[in-house]
Amino acid sequence: MGGPHSIILGAMGVLSPVVTGRIFTVTNACAYPIWPAINVGTLAPSVAKGWQADPGSTITFPVPGTWTSGRIWARTECDFTTDPGPSSCVTGGCNGGLFCHAIAGTGDPPASLAEFTLGASDGNDWYDVSLVDGFNIPVTITNDQGCPVASCPVDLNPSCPQALRGPVNALTGVPFGCKSDCLVDPNPTNSPSCCSGSYSTPQTCPPTGVPNYQYFKSSCPNSYVYAYDESSGTALFTCPSSKNANYNITFCPAP
Ligand SMILES: *[C@@H]1O[C@H](CO)[C@@H](O)[C@H](O)[C@H]1NC(C)=O
Repeated sequence: MGGPHSIILGAMGVLSPVVTGRIFTVTNACAYPIWPAINVGTLAPSVAKGWQADPGSTITFPVPGTWTSGRIWARTECDFTTDPGPSSCVTGGCNGGLFCHAIAGTGDPPASLAEFTLGASDGNDWYDVSLVDGFNIPVTITNDQGCPVASCPVDLNPSCPQALRGPVNALTGVPFGCKSDCLVDPNPTNSPSCCSGSYSTPQTCPPTGVPNYQYFKSSCPNSYVYAYDESSGTALFTCPSSKNANYNITFCPAP
């Protein structure tokens, strides 16, 4: 097989560059089990749409170098025996049960998300750790090509602002998740936290309009905190697609 720049004749006899696949590694470094899930986007990896990850476990799978709008997140406190729907997990649950529905299977917020578009038209891979749908557990995206690390490596649950706490663990009083300001806005269709309605442009939706922006951004500066967080310069990251980076997604990374 040729390298990433080789040329082959496609099915229609048209010259096309070889798209080289990548390897993704998903590790559960938490002290508790999680149920990672993957929402496939387009040109998706053929991997189970959800799995149980015991503490310390790692899985690897190949991903097409053109995977677009994909996301990987962790579900917590799951029990699929009686309820195959989103409420089978305390955070991040999806339609479909253990195997999230390929299209309608996004996670119930709050959930920290690892988001990817590989091989974008500008020649880059794009990736981020998004807290736009809130936070459930820490997650980091690293790579083997020296490109930037996207991360929210800190547990934002214990100190989560009162208005954003929940669902709460009745035994400890500590929330299992910390919602985004958008999620708790009573008027999400015209909201400076959701960047909607009359706040729908970067100019009209500055970070200063999001009440708890600093809570998230100061603890997790390399995460994507609200809809227009690109302005921070440390929300959305790129790696040249020609490097064919392999990516690691680690839940509860070492601090
Ligand atoms: C990715 O994970 C693998 C397996 O745990 C590890 O050997 C490798 O060093 C990690 N690479 C990066 C860049 O984090």
